[in-house]
Amino acid sequence: MSTNWLKNAVFYEIYPQSFLDTNADGIGDLQGITVKLDYIKGLGCNAIWINPIYDSPFMDAGYDVRDYKKIAPRYGTMADFEHLLEQAHKKDVKLLLDLVPGHTSDTHEWFQQAKTGYPSPYDNRYIFTKCVWDAPPMYRMMCGICERDGNYLVNYFSSQPALNYGFYDVTCPEWQMSSDSDEAWETVEALKDIMRFWLDKGIDGFRVDMADSLVKNDDEKIATAKIWRSVREMMDAQYPDAVLVSEWSHPQRAIVNAGFHADFYLDHQGNGYNALFRKTTADGENLSFFADHAHGDIEEFLAEYLPQYECSRDKGYISFMTNNHDMPRAPFYMSEHMVKLTHAFMMTMPGVPFVYYGDEIGMRYRTDLVSKEGGFSRTGSRTPMQWNREKNMGFSDADEDMLYLPVDKSEGSPTVEDQQGQEGSIYENLKALIALRKANPELMNDSGFEIVYEAPKAYPFAYRRGSFTAFVNPSDDDKAIDYRLDGAEIAYLIGGYEADDNTVTIRSRSFLLVKHG
Ligand code: GLC
Ligand code: CA
Repeated sequence: MSTNWLKNAVFYEIYPQSFLDTNADGIGDLQGITVKLDYIKGLGCNAIWINPIYDSPFMDAGYDVRDYKKIAPRYGTMADFEHLLEQAHKKDVKLLLDLVPGHTSDTHEWFQQAKTGYPSPYDNRYIFTKCVWDAPPMYRMMCGICERDGNYLVNYFSSQPALNYGFYDVTCPEWQMSSDSDEAWETVEALKDIMRFWLDKGIDGFRVDMADSLVKNDDEKIATAKIWRSVREMMDAQYPDAVLVSEWSHPQRAIVNAGFHADFYLDHQGNGYNALFRKTTADGENLSFFADHAHGDIEEFLAEYLPQYECSRDKGYISFMTNNHDMPRAPFYMSEHMVKLTHAFMMTMPGVPFVYYGDEIGMRYRTDLVSKEGGFSRTGSRTPMQWNREKNMGFSDADEDMLYLPVDKSEGSPTVEDQQGQEGSIYENLKALIALRKANPELMNDSGFEIVYEAPKAYPFAYRRGSFTAFVNPSDDDKAIDYRLDGAEIAYLIGGYEADDNTVTIRSRSFLLVKHG
């Protein structure tokens, strides 16, 4: 398979608004990404995913697309984009754009025509009831705000009308179309057309927003998967090097059934990712496996992860991410030291890891910001990158009050400049781990994943990746297990360990990676 590059990929996610502003208007831009390609490569990442850069009224930070084929002027021009892509490829860096297939902005031309009440070619592109008095309460509908006689379904915010991919289970035949109808498949064709537009420019694929959201009344996602398989067929035939990474968090459905090359492991209440990194009670107690004074349970993660990994491992990859633009950054939950342990874990697990911009220096989650462009609680994870201690932390030459979001100048806020070259920094730790991963195919995806030691509510957790064994002990106590190091080489260490013939003791708050000869 020519999408083989994916198995060795380490991604860097860029929220373009906040990465680097090169024309002093206070907002990040494409040129800012281009000039930082060497920085991204320097960290060890060989692929980039950029959040939406399309023309948009920015009611949801660009996830409300007005024109899928136009670059939002605030980020630059199409020529700037083509230049970025060319430069990235010159440096062997792959580039994914963000595909938003489930909904558009209500300012999109299709919707502007569909809502008029006069016949238009886009009458069936969205999901309208037949009459404004028909507003079934089980659907999220916008009522009485356009001339067309009917209410329309929205996916996320009120400004994001759902595209019509039909219904799997048609319960109101007056207005619901089947997911097999011609109208539903016309939307699929429109989606493929958008994808071809960008793939023809040479991008390396898409991160797919809310990939499971297409067909309605499709609880098992059977019809939604059918659409993606058809998209995948197009890609295999016409763009065999390009990949699709889903925001789904259900590898069996996303990878096995729908044909995605990789699927994000998202933070969902009660799931395995949550149990590892983000599990907190209402009164603030942290019950995650990775927590300061940890007393979590690795089995909550394994119970979900193992079956999902086993069923999808031959077909695609599960993507761990340090964080993303939708959730609080890790330092909100844990110390810098613990963040480093999580990075060691993620960079030694199977799959395709994603680093969210700023996580390589432990940028903080801000709780003191007013929502920006539909960010709400997510806004605090979207602040400008902290490059150095110069004006606006090196993000922009604009006046402070013009910045997209305020830069974090609080006491001790990290910068790239301070951390680069500083032994033991989050940056140097992550950089070393990525280098180790890339130097050892077994740590990427040329080996499996086997448990060496786990027990309910116990530490450490130990797992094998080919000839490597990793031991992770976030807890406050030293933990010993039966294990013969047998002269294995120490490949990576955070904290400390001790070993005799039959036992290894992993010091508290430590990570050890060994390689057997
Ligand atoms: C995804 C995006 C999020 C966006 C939403 C609606 O979850 O990651 O940022 O608001 O979809 O498109
Ligand atoms: Ca700018």
